[in-house]
Amino acid sequence: MSDRLLAVLSEDLRPLAAQRLAAAEPVLRRLLAGLYGERADFDAWLGELMESLGVLYAARPAELRALDLERLACPGWFLSQRMLGYCAYVQNFGGDLNGVAERVPYLRELGVSYLHLLPFLRARGGENDGGFAVSSFDEVEPALGSNADLMALTANLRLAGISLCSDFILNHVADDHAWARAAKAGDADARAMFHVFPDRAMPDRYERTLGQVFPQVAPGNFSFIEELDGWAWTTFYPYQWDLNYANPAVFAAMAAALLRLANRGVEVFRLDSTAFLWKREGTNSMNQPEAHQLLQALRAIVDIVAPGVLLKAEAIVPTRELPAYLGSAEAPECHIAYHSSLMAAGWVALAEQGTGVLREVVRNTPALPAAATWLSYVRCHDDIGWNVLRAEASADGSDSAVRLARAARFFSGAEGSYAIGAAFQSTDPNAAHGSNGMAASLTGLQAARTDEEGALALRRMLLLHGLALSFGALPVLYMGDELAMENDYSYQDRPQHAMDSRWLQRPVFDLQRWKHRYDVSTVPGTMHQALAKLVRLRGRHDALAANAPRTLLADAPDGMLALARGERFLTLMNFSGRPQGYALQGVWRDCVAEQEKVGTLVLEPYAMYWLVRE
Ligand code: GLC
Repeated sequence: MSDRLLAVLSEDLRPLAAQRLAAAEPVLRRLLAGLYGERADFDAWLGELMESLGVLYAARPAELRALDLERLACPGWFLSQRMLGYCAYVQNFGGDLNGVAERVPYLRELGVSYLHLLPFLRARGGENDGGFAVSSFDEVEPALGSNADLMALTANLRLAGISLCSDFILNHVADDHAWARAAKAGDADARAMFHVFPDRAMPDRYERTLGQVFPQVAPGNFSFIEELDGWAWTTFYPYQWDLNYANPAVFAAMAAALLRLANRGVEVFRLDSTAFLWKREGTNSMNQPEAHQLLQALRAIVDIVAPGVLLKAEAIVPTRELPAYLGSAEAPECHIAYHSSLMAAGWVALAEQGTGVLREVVRNTPALPAAATWLSYVRCHDDIGWNVLRAEASADGSDSAVRLARAARFFSGAEGSYAIGAAFQSTDPNAAHGSNGMAASLTGLQAARTDEEGALALRRMLLLHGLALSFGALPVLYMGDELAMENDYSYQDRPQHAMDSRWLQRPVFDLQRWKHRYDVSTVPGTMHQALAKLVRLRGRHDALAANAPRTLLADAPDGMLALARGERFLTLMNFSGRPQGYALQGVWRDCVAEQEKVGTLVLEPYAMYWLVRE
């Protein structure tokens, strides 16, 4: 079957392709045979797949092929402590793709080397879940630019040393994607790309064990589609139809779509909702073994055709389910995985003024496999989902539902909290709802009435960012947080967004704040300068690389998290509103304030120290 791939390549491309095939093809074949091998037409299908990969291999532009070689020579390039991510909506950050290109100097100045632009491909008109309902994987959303603009932007970013990360929404497509339109028109092959049931019999059986993502605005996991005269599987909104990966045509088409984007210069793919790719009756249809096999097969394909490309798993799942998304030495999967438990646990630590749950998450986070990393973050475009922390929140015998619900209430502003946020939806009445809001609003900046309150809120902002920067991960800043931007309530006036409070944290980039970024007499300037300083310091310490060793120090008081990175670096973080002491062994240097520290160090409320052993 490898012959089919090689056959379409020119003479000069063949030797290298043959080499990569020899390494990855046996794994790929085994995985695909496991998923689809029982079909009579398996060999023919596989042959066609390989030929289509050959065509995409041949089409890969020379400069991207050169980048592939560079990355292969240094497979752990993205684990460096100098890697920093930034995540933004195109329309909010720059208006369109060309406008984003104009912000490249700003990103460089901040030390960004990885830019995740939220969905920018052609999306469904009207409601489209912030672009997560894709109508075409081959066209840029016209309001945001063209494919030529995309290629120009990726080239521009590459020159600046920034990798572009694009969402690749592989679990579902919009109900006006060509496949959905054909299915509605009665095309049987197109209908087979989806999970469609003639009546409620199967949906009802599945529903017994499925969860719900948007229980209030999009209850249930199936939607009756009149034109299909049947029920389509729709995990998210009714206009997002889940793809049926039991059909090999889906896998082949999606793998090709990903590679076409890679050939336009996308270097990292955020694989959206990866946990949901495979359905199994009697389960919650998340994290199924086949979902991992699909991702591993995709990885093998990337390793053959575009080995410089990185895959990132968006799997918002409990800590114990997370390592599988990075795969193993024998079958690597994604290069990067969101550590949503770490993110949520940082917020719980603030709400509880205690680090019990956070420590448990650190303990449950295994060492990284080679050339892979967690993604750390403070906020993103989605809600903070608390329920990933159930195991950690009950580890000390607590009732996790009660405990997480308390944290959730805290960030929606109850319980005497400084936070101004909104409750999102919850799966069942006993579970904690998610929380929405910009970091600055959730940490108390928006509510601050006095300088002192403002100063404490800023410390909380820096504390959470300090955790993301020093944990040992690829940290990704969320647009606006570096300028302490607050909640945006304008979504309430937009009918297509009003029911989804995640829009609270999707503001337009604030140029006024941006202009004040060097002015430390302002809140945005103070935040920006303090964060930029941490980013610069981080870059200087190998001990903060993603894969450098990390030890949780048990001798810190409950309000504090103490992490050693290697023998010479120590971060101390006070998550409580009371001073906390820590007895240092030996002589240390506070690398933020450039001061020597010995003996017992007292951390003021929400203070953080980055210490290097002298
Ligand atoms: C992911 C996205 C989220 C979206 C969902 C459905 O979880 O982050 O914003 O609603 O997938 O595509």
